[in-house]
Amino acid sequence: MATIPLLVLLMATIFSAAPPVAGEPPNVVPFACKAATAAGGGTFDEAFCLSTLEGSKSSVGAADYADLAVVAVDLATANVTATEAKIDALLASNNISGAAVVQGLQSCRALYGAVVRQYQPECRAAVKGGRYGDGKKCLGRTAQAVAACERWFQQRKVASPVAAEDVVLAMLANLAIALASIAN
Ligand SMILES: *[C@@H]1O[C@H](CO)[C@@H](O)[C@H](O)[C@H]1NC(C)=O
Ligand SMILES: *[C@@H]1O[C@H](CO)[C@@H](O)[C@H](O)[C@H]1NC(C)=O
Repeated sequence: MATIPLLVLLMATIFSAAPPVAGEPPNVVPFACKAATAAGGGTFDEAFCLSTLEGSKSSVGAADYADLAVVAVDLATANVTATEAKIDALLASNNISGAAVVQGLQSCRALYGAVVRQYQPECRAAVKGGRYGDGKKCLGRTAQAVAACERWFQQRKVASPVAAEDVVLAMLANLAIALASIAN
């Protein structure tokens, strides 16, 4: 029976080709997330892309993949800034058990300071300026900083107090990289 797959294909075509609601700009997010997820090679999934970009007010005016790449860079910056603040609060609380954890947090704090004040502004300028190759390289350094933060704890076999934040941060950096790739 070849009719069922044909019907499915036909319906998929009709739905994906549905015209945008009058008066609203076409929503580029679903298309971008499909393409970005494929480009991301398993570093994040489509649901993460959709919830991240749809949850951001800045995506509303985005006309194309290039705009969304800048949105993702900004979300990554906001996220790492919040993680840096959490680390500061933890270190200030004097309520961390174990010198290794304190040292690990200090090492993450140094990495994230560079990410917030040096890498991310450079990445944003590159992506915003259409220099996607530079942007991807720069965002790669952000992703490496996140991996280095977690590696510190893994190597010493102590739990990272920012493990959950780092999972999200890594996915955001990779989402920004993937969007910069398809914006090309
Ligand atoms: C960090 O990113 C996640 C995923 O998009 C989001 O749920 C969270 O609200 C963000 N946090 C900040 C502080 O931007
Ligand atoms: C100290 O840390 C423990 C374990 O993480 C937590 O349950 C407790 O609420 C913290 N105390 C303060 C004063 O932050």
